[in-house]
Amino acid sequence: MEQRKKVLSAIQPTGDMHFGNYFGAVKNWVALQERYDCIYGVVDYHAMTMPYQPKKLRENTWELIFNLLATGVRPDFLFIQSLVPEHAELCWILNCFTSYGQLMRMTQFKDKSRQAGELGGDGFISAGLLDYPVLQAADILIYRADYVPVGKDQEQHLELARDTAQRFNSQVRKEYFVLPEALFTEVPKVASTADPTRKMSKSAGEKHYINLFAEEGRIRKQIRSAVTDTGAESDNGEMSPGVANLFRLLKASERLEAHDSLLADYEAGSLKYVDLKEAVADALVAISGEMRERKAELLADKKRVKDQIKASSAAIRKRAQQTMREVKELSGLLNVRF
Ligand code: TRP
Repeated sequence: MEQRKKVLSAIQPTGDMHFGNYFGAVKNWVALQERYDCIYGVVDYHAMTMPYQPKKLRENTWELIFNLLATGVRPDFLFIQSLVPEHAELCWILNCFTSYGQLMRMTQFKDKSRQAGELGGDGFISAGLLDYPVLQAADILIYRADYVPVGKDQEQHLELARDTAQRFNSQVRKEYFVLPEALFTEVPKVASTADPTRKMSKSAGEKHYINLFAEEGRIRKQIRSAVTDTGAESDNGEMSPGVANLFRLLKASERLEAHDSLLADYEAGSLKYVDLKEAVADALVAISGEMRERKAELLADKKRVKDQIKASSAAIRKRAQQTMREVKELSGLLNVRF
């Protein structure tokens, strides 16, 4: 039987999961499970690179596990990064094969170091933030993943992972690490309904994202107040970003019939935005209803689910440990089993 290609992706436990995360990434993770050997991580080590609270981090980690399981991610494909400490160990080794200058040039480092200075208020920027892409490289290389489904914003990090892998391979004179490729699946990019010129995200504040597990009333309210035409751009004959975003949400929710008939109304000049908004709200409410139902079932069995994820993390750790034995051998480190 042909070996399935390996897919690895990861997400940081930083609080609520929203429709942008779901349509833009997690829904695709679920789909990829059919075709690939998938490994999906909740990367808590990564979440320490920005100012954070220890107690909140642990809560967010489990919360994200339950959220991911509710969306349909398979429990045996899911692990918690800090339960596989070999990621940090490999990160150290890879640090010694990564160019400091290349890390300094990462756009995300430049953006986030500015943010960290502002958030913490004291200008503190951790070395972890600079090193973050090397930990990400370790996440990928430790399982010899072939494909990494990521957004365009992660392309630079993936290039760094390949450069680091290549430098390691040439140093040890062996094509040991697989050079991972980005998997850019066409995924809908959802914007904030409060400001459709920016993407849906938590960092901009509560009104800029719609929680995937939100109650019906909250979703309807957020969609009702979605920005449509702001006046300025409505004269040039192009669809305004807010209206386009509502259509995108409808399509991402797989309400294709409603989408097409409302789009026909738009083109005929007879579309009422209230109708579009109602269709979008109905679609999102239906999805969040399903998500909340599945999450409630999982939460009713909390201990069993947590044990299951600890067990899957332990199984995934075995794969990471095998890689570490080989890497230590190749890099001239000692390999003693106590
Ligand atoms: N850096 C990614 C993000 O912020 C998260 C991440 C960490 C990741 N490790 C990874 C993504 C490995 C893909 C593969 O979105």
